[in-house]
Amino acid sequence: MRNDALLYRRFGPPGEVLALESQPLGPPEPGRVRVRMIAAPVNPSDLIPVTGAYGHRVRPPLVAGYEGVGAVVGSGGALAEGTRVLPLRGPGTWQRVVDADPAWLVAVPDDIPTELAARAYINPLSAQLMLEAWPVAGRRVLLTAAGSACAGLLALWAFAAGARSVTGIVRSAAHGPALAALGVEPVTMADTAAVTAAAARAEVAFDAVGGPLAEAILDAMPPGGDFVSYGLLSGQPFAVPAVRPALRRFHLRDRLATVAPETWQGWFRTLWPRLRRAPLPGVATVPLAEWRRALALFHTAGRRDKPLLVMG
Ligand SMILES: NC(=O)c1ccc[n+]([C@@H]2O[C@H](COP(=O)([O-])OP(=O)(O)OC[C@H]3O[C@@H](n4cnc5c(N)ncnc54)[C@H](OP(=O)(O)O)[C@@H]3O)[C@@H](O)[C@H]2O)c1
Repeated sequence: MRNDALLYRRFGPPGEVLALESQPLGPPEPGRVRVRMIAAPVNPSDLIPVTGAYGHRVRPPLVAGYEGVGAVVGSGGALAEGTRVLPLRGPGTWQRVVDADPAWLVAVPDDIPTELAARAYINPLSAQLMLEAWPVAGRRVLLTAAGSACAGLLALWAFAAGARSVTGIVRSAAHGPALAALGVEPVTMADTAAVTAAAARAEVAFDAVGGPLAEAILDAMPPGGDFVSYGLLSGQPFAVPAVRPALRRFHLRDRLATVAPETWQGWFRTLWPRLRRAPLPGVATVPLAEWRRALALFHTAGRRDKPLLVMG
């Protein structure tokens, strides 16, 4: 038996260093659950480590991909064959077979569509944990990269938590209508006056861009606010002014470092009902063998759909 895996053997641009390799597949280690992957999305969080941005804690060769959904094919009788699960926190998910640690395996409720289950972890859990850590009730919220899946969930759940308003800064104006439909006021990144005005009103900002945009927001935000940095899509760091809102940093991996399996499973019990009502963007499905096409879709400015690798 063989397994196809999209892996990288050195850091670099994902299009250059990722390669689909076929490898022999032995039996799973004792205690692991063998999962045949069905689908996995392409998120910024999957590609950033490939570039070497986290070179201090990840070491290739590695299979890429942090989330996805599959079906149980071998569990020593613990789980019914075919049960849909999220095989998380183990080997990369951009491969046809994952041998998962049952402690972190998440069962998918029957009514959750596969394309939603595939995206139920990185962004939903991060949005949920950020809103718990920095409550937004009664506050004016500002989001950057507001067209992203993560920002869409932050917006939806910020309103549900009683946020006074949500403003979303976008690079591509194409995201405006979808944001407006959520009740979010869209602002384009190029409109620096509007960005400054939105930041001056913001009491909590969730930033995934960094660089000059983060600096502009930090400069304009009132001192009592919270500026939460959770991504660096610009690839550029940012300077922090002396008089500023409180700078917070969110990394999902920090929260995972100490979580107990019971708490972890509890997070998903909270997430599933919320996800049933969440307007996650659509998906563009791409067979694993055509992964380069998935990367090209990923890099299309203004895209709404999330590329979803289907393992076949
Ligand atoms: N810290 C954590 O633990 C954690 C957890 C989850 C997610 N994240 C971060 O959350 C962010 C969003 O992830 P996602 O999966 O939701 O993304 P996504 O759905 O793939 O959307 C990416 C969005 O980012 C925008 N974008 C890309 N580069 C940009 C730039 N240089 N300046 C401004 N906008 C830019 C794109 O805008 P266009 O349409 O204009 O291309 C697109 O709307 C990423 O930074 C990711 O690393 C962090």
